[in-house]
Amino acid sequence: MYGWMKTNIAVLGAQWGDEGKGKIVDMLTPHFSAVARYQGGHNAGHTVYVNGKKFVLHLIPSGILHAGVTCLIGNGVVIDPQALFAEVEELARGGITVDGRLKISEKAHIILPYHRELDVLSEARRGERKIGTTSRGIGPAYEDKIGRRGIRVCDLLGDRTALADEVRENVSARNRMIIDSTLDWKPVFDQVVAFGERMRPWVDDVSLSLHTMMAEGKTVMFEGAQATLLDIDHGTYPFVTSSNASVGGVCTGLGVPPRAIGGVLGVAKAYTTRVGEGPLPTELSGALADRLRESGQEYGASTGRPRRCGWYDAVAVRYSVRINGLDALALTKLDVLDGLERIDICTAYRCGDRTLTEFPSDVAQLTQCEPVYESMPGWTTPTAGVRDFDRLPAAARAYIARLEEVSGVRAAIVSTGSERDDTILRDPSFQSSDFRVQI
Ligand code: GDP
Ligand code: IMO
Ligand code: MG
Repeated sequence: MYGWMKTNIAVLGAQWGDEGKGKIVDMLTPHFSAVARYQGGHNAGHTVYVNGKKFVLHLIPSGILHAGVTCLIGNGVVIDPQALFAEVEELARGGITVDGRLKISEKAHIILPYHRELDVLSEARRGERKIGTTSRGIGPAYEDKIGRRGIRVCDLLGDRTALADEVRENVSARNRMIIDSTLDWKPVFDQVVAFGERMRPWVDDVSLSLHTMMAEGKTVMFEGAQATLLDIDHGTYPFVTSSNASVGGVCTGLGVPPRAIGGVLGVAKAYTTRVGEGPLPTELSGALADRLRESGQEYGASTGRPRRCGWYDAVAVRYSVRINGLDALALTKLDVLDGLERIDICTAYRCGDRTLTEFPSDVAQLTQCEPVYESMPGWTTPTAGVRDFDRLPAAARAYIARLEEVSGVRAAIVSTGSERDDTILRDPSFQSSDFRVQI
């Protein structure tokens, strides 16, 4: 175990999502007492393979596969109770029990069935300008939260008359939004009451539990969903998700102070993917895109949609390093590049007659940007499954070194396969004092 694992760390997406956060969180979990999700909902799909067995986590933290580890879902997460129950049942079928170690914030907001409907409707209304959401009701649930009319987990367990009033008000607001809609509030009320009862054993003051654990000297890993470029504030707005996936979300989404975060690990693929609409400057098409999609199995873990694929975008990752203060990268899916003759790295954008080295704020400008590439030789000896840095082909080592240079951050972890052990834990000297902060 390296020094920087002796403190609480945040593990989050440094690109457009699906970087392999689930694999990295699962792999690091034995070094922590607890894993806590701070934002998003079941739009996330975090895949973990254990001895060939596949688990896809959506709401439950990716630490759940390790017995004895506490898994917490923070107030910043939006919870679809039906999705939660389905996930608990799926885990049980895989021999994993959540009892006694799943804790759900009483302040987390609930996704109601009509949020899903509103999500689909709002996408249809946007037409050509659609976001390409996961249709899980995430955006509408966060809209109700920010609009101060959301329903929280604690509301389900509190005064029934107050809950009935809230549900009635929400349903009538929804009916006003959909022409000719006359949804009855009572069945919705009965349903959410039943949801609350089923969730009751897990409901907790998550902020307090985390503070107590940390005061006892236990360490926590904060798990992000989605990614920095999908962050509602810092992502490619409006083609983003509706929460703060970047590091700021840890504090607001869990009720922990900034000094509780001892280090930030960004997860990045050795190339780039995106699912849904919105600009992707290094996007490839044709045979090369198909090649990356097939060898990387780039299909959405939640929706099954094919992911758009492109070369590594160092402008985007540098931006992510800045926004999150990334201390290190976990560089994943290096093996997917095995056998390519040449590999391109985007180091800047050309926008008209200007060269940009910083990520632009305006999505219209980003759409017009052309990547500036430098090209590196590929490698023929496979990296798949390699667990020792020195056993990587020289060209792969050179590629990683160049990514580190142009991204401005160390790749402390390199992943060469989807299994836990297909991982290179590099650089024991990476024990910067930043990572030893204790609260
Ligand atoms: P997440 O949402 O960030 O957790 O990522 P996803 O689970 O949506 O997508 C990442 C996919 O890549 C999953 O199917 C992982 O099993 C897989 N994966 C993770 N790391 C590696 C790796 O180093 N090599 C390969 N080939 N697959 C990987
Ligand atoms: P993980 O945690 C990749 C994308 C959707 C869409 C946009 C908004 O597995 O990395 P939403 O349903 O959130 O309102 O959709 O965000 N998106 C993701 N893309 N990985 C995810 O999660 C995503 N969650 C949402 O495709 O473009
Ligand atoms: Mg995913």
